Amino acid sequence: MNSPFGEHVDVPVLQHDTGEMYRMVSIDAGYVVSEEDIAAIVEICSEPLLYRFVFRDRLGERAYEEQDARSFLEWARSGWVSGQHMCFLVRDPAGVVATSIEVGSLDESGEALVGYWASAFHRGVMTNTVECMAELAAGAGYRKLVSLVEEENLRSLAVLKRTGFSHVGSQEHSLTRLDQPVGKTLKFRRYERAL
Ligand SMILES: CC(C)(COP(=O)(O)OP(=O)(O)OC[C@H]1O[C@@H](n2cnc3c(N)ncnc32)[C@H](O)[C@@H]1OP(=O)(O)O)[C@@H](O)C(=O)NCCC(=O)NCCS
Repeated sequence: MNSPFGEHVDVPVLQHDTGEMYRMVSIDAGYVVSEEDIAAIVEICSEPLLYRFVFRDRLGERAYEEQDARSFLEWARSGWVSGQHMCFLVRDPAGVVATSIEVGSLDESGEALVGYWASAFHRGVMTNTVECMAELAAGAGYRKLVSLVEEENLRSLAVLKRTGFSHVGSQEHSLTRLDQPVGKTLKFRRYERAL
């Protein structure tokens, strides 16, 4: 198995308000870790809203550290090669990391979970990034995207609404971080979008 998106993806994503062109780029075998990316990812993942919804329950409330960013990038790169999970960084026109999105493996069900985060300093990119992901996924053979969101996560719920996901119910989900169980289960709202 390997990435259903091919070796490399680099596509434009429009910033909704300013019309600036960001780029959604795969973290694939050719990705070379840079200290700028590490610093940007640590800064973004430490932002209060993002930390609350993505890392608080996964890190046991400790801070998001440089090693976490390094492990994430290594996990992302190997996931692209194995096809287990495909991660993308979205960069602003200066090349600085602004958001990230990932999708699970393409199996016979054609259904996969998506996850994403965006810096509060780069609002206006996520909706278009999810749209872009949906187009790429449809082209690669996925049939359904699934998102699990906490009820209190209003900004994420708004993204799903804008991108045509439907609320289909609730489910208990055991949290993982970089595929490792963290020993905690939360109740999420389940959203789906057929492609
Ligand atoms: C969820 C998250 C990614 C949303 O980011 P965001 O910057 O609010 O998302 P968007 O770029 O889509 O929207 C920002 C604004 O641009 C507007 N916008 C963006 N694209 C748009 C479009 N194509 N059409 C209309 N409006 C658009 C939105 O209406 C929104 O406006 P508002 O600030 O007045 O509400 C971000 O809050 C985040 O990272 N949260 C923490 C991590 C997280 O929760 N991840 C998801 C786990 S399920």
